[in-house]
Amino acid sequence: MKIKNICCIGAGYVGGPTMAVIAQKCPKVKVTVVDINEQRIQFWNDPDVNKIPIYEPGLAEIVKEVRGRNLFFSTDVEKAIDESDMIFISVNTPTKTYGIGKGMAADLKWIELCARQIAEVSKSDKIVIEKSTLPVRTAAALKDILDSTGNGVKFQILSNPEFLAEGTAVEDLRNPDRVLVGGDIETEEGREAMDALVDIYASWVPREKILTTNVWSSELSKLTANAFLAQRVSSINAISELCEKTEADVNEVAKAVGMDSRVGPKFLKASVGFGGSCFQKDILNLVYIARSFNLKEVADYWEQVIIMNNHQKRRFAANMVRAMHNTVADKKIVILGWAFKKDTNDTRESAAIYVADYLLNEQAKIIVYDPKVTEEQIYSDLDYLGSRSGNANRQAVTVVNDPVQACEEAHAVAVLTEWDEFKNLNWKMVYDKMLKPAFLFDGRRLLKKENIEGFNFYSLGSVN
Ligand code: UDX
Ligand code: UDX
Repeated sequence: MKIKNICCIGAGYVGGPTMAVIAQKCPKVKVTVVDINEQRIQFWNDPDVNKIPIYEPGLAEIVKEVRGRNLFFSTDVEKAIDESDMIFISVNTPTKTYGIGKGMAADLKWIELCARQIAEVSKSDKIVIEKSTLPVRTAAALKDILDSTGNGVKFQILSNPEFLAEGTAVEDLRNPDRVLVGGDIETEEGREAMDALVDIYASWVPREKILTTNVWSSELSKLTANAFLAQRVSSINAISELCEKTEADVNEVAKAVGMDSRVGPKFLKASVGFGGSCFQKDILNLVYIARSFNLKEVADYWEQVIIMNNHQKRRFAANMVRAMHNTVADKKIVILGWAFKKDTNDTRESAAIYVADYLLNEQAKIIVYDPKVTEEQIYSDLDYLGSRSGNANRQAVTVVNDPVQACEEAHAVAVLTEWDEFKNLNWKMVYDKMLKPAFLFDGRRLLKKENIEGFNFYSLGSVN
């Protein structure tokens, strides 16, 4: 089976970069990315590639090269479905905010809508691929909907979870640790569909890195991979609190532990807490699934990763208040970094949102600087929490473009995202502008003590 036309539903952080790289590496395949959000598609099609809606290092260059050649962005979902042999579903699957499983389960409403639309529009056989992270056995629901069309069209459902991390998406797509393709290994049609997808990736990924499994293993592997990664962050964050009490230094501990080749050095960086669209959502999902099978110990075990993460965010903010003589009311606090990690403009579940919210409850005045996040996004993140009504967030929070200027007469600065530019900020000038004593809180262990003379300095995970 040779694939000529690919459609991807969902032009987000996953769909956009993934399809751009597929289009670049498979010039003979036409790739159309569709989205119901007209404005998002307009930005993807903006003649100025720097206006594409997602910031990822290297992405604008690829879009410039392939857009209009074999990569297209459109809102005409039906046409793209109709023309395609292979459809990636890459829509968002947020945690449910209503009904059964509220606050835990994944909301599959968009996935189901996509399946119904595919079923309705398709006139020829298609391979449908789950790209979104989904609870185990979602493929069965998809199959049920797709097979009920009654118009004789055959669908093969594959699971092909995405392991890219934001900020390094292009590099992760070009050089993945592995690609996972789950499908119906038992049947010939299933194997053919899997081969077709494997062939696409084999255009640039060595075959030995492309794993094929049954659909359920593939779905569960994605949730498990994210749960393991998040667990490492919560593990080191738990130790960071102990370090602050014992004069151990969390970086030294992480290094010593990570040099054991059985543990490995990655994902052991203590922080103000993990964020992003996946970790929390996927673990909640895992916990929900375990609970639904009455696996109490399994559910409790994984839930602790989230409990620890929430504790870390709260504890960081509480430490700030405590250090500043137990009150921050009307004090000016500058937050450097709003994105959930560096090199992305994504703010979903960013620790900065929760730290700011905590400080706002203590009646602080907040100034925010982030090199890539827009003012509207920052207000919308705070409004979404629903902690304050009306204009209160806009009155208490100011968003600025100049991090040094922002520190004029500030009581404190908190570094919450590890943007490289914060390392080389003119800290001397920042210090001079601030009220004294000048408090500096490093939630990313980004700053070296020797570069920040004068400050009352608090670095997470060590005694300062
Ligand atoms: C993805 C995955 O889908 C999610 O399951 C995974 O855990 C994280 O990554 P992401 O690409 O980050 O989500 O989401 P987002 O940037 O919100 O993009 C999803 C897009 O799908 C949005 O642009 C939305 O408008 C679009 N969409 C949603 C549709 O086009 N149709 C729908 O029915 C629903
Ligand atoms: C994650 C997975 O890494 C990726 O494989 C999956 O496809 C999607 O979810 P992402 O959320 O984009 O990717 O970024 P990641 O680099 O995993 O970081 C997640 C959060 O953990 C960030 O807030 C980051 O700052 C934090 N983190 C990460 C730490 O605090 N310490 C670390 O050592 C590593």
